[in-house]
Amino acid sequence: LASLGRVAQGVAHELNTPLATIRTLASDMREAIRSLGGDEALQSDLAESAALIRDETGRLGRITHSLLTGGSLPRLRLNSSAPLLPIVERARALVFAGVRDGGAELDIGDSVENLVVSADSDRLLQVLVNLFQNAVDANRGAGGRHVWLSATRRGSVVEIVVEDEGIGIQPEIEGRLFEPFATTKPPGEGTGLGLYASYMLIQTMGGDLTIENRDRGGARASVRLAAGT
Ligand SMILES: Nc1ncnc2c1ncn2[C@@H]1O[C@H](COP(=O)(O)OP(=O)(O)OP(=O)(O)O)[C@@H](O)[C@H]1O
Ligand SMILES: [Mg+2]
Repeated sequence: LASLGRVAQGVAHELNTPLATIRTLASDMREAIRSLGGDEALQSDLAESAALIRDETGRLGRITHSLLTGGSLPRLRLNSSAPLLPIVERARALVFAGVRDGGAELDIGDSVENLVVSADSDRLLQVLVNLFQNAVDANRGAGGRHVWLSATRRGSVVEIVVEDEGIGIQPEIEGRLFEPFATTKPPGEGTGLGLYASYMLIQTMGGDLTIENRDRGGARASVRLAAGT
């Protein structure tokens, strides 16, 4: 395990320089796009993409930083009143903006608007990105189009649900969903780490993650976290 840590440190070190470069270039691009003129909608789309690249490299930088300084993940930053909607919107921008084949649309339930959770926003974002990506992949295999996100508060718990109309959980993987490297995707398309990491991240926030098939086809992932105050 110790040597795995050293490998991680080495990799983190190598990643830091290109990450810093990408981050600087994305900031420059964002400024340049603003001064371009022309189609305003396109311009604001591009500026938003550049800002996402900049912010995401910042997030990667925090990960490499904490690997370098010996930890395995950035220190848990629990916010006891994290608004859910901005995290969901951000995950949407990261996953659905990149889907260009008309294969995916995210429907965000109205109930999400006023909900507050107790969570580390970066970690919850990562989990939602993983769940959205899985939903999009599953939809693609079944010609599905929609992904739904809804959330409800029940007493002191907020349940966040991601549903798709995809191929559903395949029987051969059903009991191993949260194991590292368990995947039904071909090499290069999936590592089988998404759900493992998501489960761990949710556990570190004192929550719970489950996945099941829906009666009407597709899958439903449920995240339960303490409600914010
Ligand atoms: N929404 C879903 N519908 C159907 N099957 C799913 C869904 N989400 C996950 N799975 C199944 O669980 C497996 C593991 O998912 P996981 O996210 O851990 O890895 P992955 O998506 O294969 O690879 P990656 O590391 O890129 O996330 C998937 O390969 C797939 O078989
Ligand atoms: Mg995945």
